[in-house]
Amino acid sequence: MTQPLLANWNGVEQPLDEVRVSVLDRGFLFGDGGYEVLRIYGGRLFLLDEHMQRLVRSLDKLRIAADVPRIERRLRETLAHSGVVEGMAYLQVTRGEAPRMHRFPPGNPHPNELIYIAPLAGDPYGDARETGAAVLTTPDVRWGRCDIKSINLLANCLAAQAAAEAGCQEALLVAEDGAIVEGSHTSVFGVKDGAIWTTPLGPHILPGITRGLVLRLAARAGISVVEKSLHTRELGEIDELFLTGTTSEVLPVTTVDGRPIGNGRPGPVTRRLAETYRQVVDEMLAGPAS
Ligand code: PDD
Repeated sequence: MTQPLLANWNGVEQPLDEVRVSVLDRGFLFGDGGYEVLRIYGGRLFLLDEHMQRLVRSLDKLRIAADVPRIERRLRETLAHSGVVEGMAYLQVTRGEAPRMHRFPPGNPHPNELIYIAPLAGDPYGDARETGAAVLTTPDVRWGRCDIKSINLLANCLAAQAAAEAGCQEALLVAEDGAIVEGSHTSVFGVKDGAIWTTPLGPHILPGITRGLVLRLAARAGISVVEKSLHTRELGEIDELFLTGTTSEVLPVTTVDGRPIGNGRPGPVTRRLAETYRQVVDEMLAGPAS
């Protein structure tokens, strides 16, 4: 029998499958909440400060008043009690429970806070990391505030499902002008003549934590960065394409809509950044526990 996942629901540790939430929770009714996903390597939370800062920013923009330092303490405690060594942590904060009305309920309900820890068996993208992932393109039909990490993910789910049905690992979301914005749950980078291109930050993309790390690693490695969206018409001209994300790490893409990128194999710049990413994980594991 598999071990039940450990959750922390509003400060109470319990098995995840025993957590119960009211149907009047505004996350359930409206998708009114924010979330984070963190990677756990060697029992430690990777890029914890960056994720906590983004959670603060998302909740501020959503005007949900939650005690994020307390959530961070509970996250650390729940991880320690879970015994998980390799895995992911999920955090979600909704505006809480109140009679259904669109405007914020008078008197502000208590936010509902969920944390759970899930082990990962091996590398979920192990094969694709070696051979390269296949992706498809699909129109970006999301709302105008994708910089907020909100639990409203219906357009992302539909895009990811379309990708899965086509035998692809990810869907690239394309704006009306042909600009590739980001993936359904990843950030997107192109490589051309040794330089990397990525979509500039703005309301239309999530400021990916892994994206930020990769940009710092590129600067350290002397790889030039162009903050510019890649257009679908440019896909035939670029040398490499890769995705970044908390669970996908640095993932090479070798085909888009069935057409090869570059020579159809993971390229050297992507490989170098993937190796540097691993080195940062190793440095964290070798350093003092935070
Ligand atoms: N998704 N873009 C979108 C739309 C995302 O949902 C994510 C992450 C990313 C990558 O961000 P980061 O490097 O901070 O993980 C980009 C998470 C993993 C998820 O929803 O499961």
